[in-house]
Amino acid sequence: MKLFSLITLLIVIKTLAFANTNRPIADTVEHGTVLFDTDGNPINAHGPGVMYHKGVYYLFGEIKNGKTWLVPGQNWEDYRVPAGGISCYSSTDLKNWKYRGIALKPVVNDPDNDLDTGRVIERPKVIYNQHTKKFVMWMHIDKNDYNYSRGGVATSDSPEGPYQYQGSIKPNDQMLRDMTLFKDEDGKAYLIYSSEDNNTMHVCLLSNDYLKPTTTYVRILENKKRESPTIFKNKGKYYLITSGCSGWSPNAALYAVADNIMGPWEEQGNPCKGPDSGVTFFSQGAFVLPVADRPGKYIFMGDVWNKTDLEKSAYLWLPLSINDGIIEVYYP
Ligand code: GAL
Repeated sequence: MKLFSLITLLIVIKTLAFANTNRPIADTVEHGTVLFDTDGNPINAHGPGVMYHKGVYYLFGEIKNGKTWLVPGQNWEDYRVPAGGISCYSSTDLKNWKYRGIALKPVVNDPDNDLDTGRVIERPKVIYNQHTKKFVMWMHIDKNDYNYSRGGVATSDSPEGPYQYQGSIKPNDQMLRDMTLFKDEDGKAYLIYSSEDNNTMHVCLLSNDYLKPTTTYVRILENKKRESPTIFKNKGKYYLITSGCSGWSPNAALYAVADNIMGPWEEQGNPCKGPDSGVTFFSQGAFVLPVADRPGKYIFMGDVWNKTDLEKSAYLWLPLSINDGIIEVYYP
């Protein structure tokens, strides 16, 4: 990403955040975007997910701390930064975010541990299980060459944590890289992830306690090489936005629609419109947030990666509209 574009983006994000300070939630949502927590510190929550629980939004994301380095011997730009675990922030208005601490702590100097700072801990997503009364977090766990490809799971009795790590798994012995989690209205939950070396995505039903993949899964977007899945449901239909596979560099998003989460999924075009839509406005999707009590209002949450200094990566949160089944995301 060009330095000029990054600076412009940051200025727009900051302007919007401060300009909206005294406005009602509706305006904030239209241009929803955040950079700082209520203590004035930069929000460190990359590849984020948001859970809405009892009137509060909980934001979870990757803590990226320290110096970025390039893993030698790879045939792609495998930039890495120490994995600092998962952070949690909370908000009631999507505008003021209070830091709630480290939801899932990393482990230091234990290279065999999934949560060691030398590992990959990415794209955390949390849902609540009504039956077990546990908050369940799933995340992508990997090693520097991204060939470990597993889903990690952690649980907590309270939304902000601390979460206890329960281990990692390859669902049905299949690779899991970029992932998201979806809890349906009937209480069933699904893991959606890039599998088969990023060639094909899988949608896998979780066990009733959300802690294990079941053997019920489907292959979707076969051989389309898609990643960074974000999913939401509107008026009975499921929408899945994905990115292409170009590492930390931005590319065009695409979306697919289905009447049943297990498919068939019908591929649509790029949900982003206008200038720079071909590179998702220099971002990569991480989550689509349904705004509570505002049916049909969504925020597309993207990461603006700074690949040579990952800790400095920014965020781009944009309003997402949906009309007659067509998604549109504009850069204001
Ligand atoms: C991206 C992926 C990120 C991260 C990165 C590593 O494509 O979406 O979450 O894994 O690759 O290069």
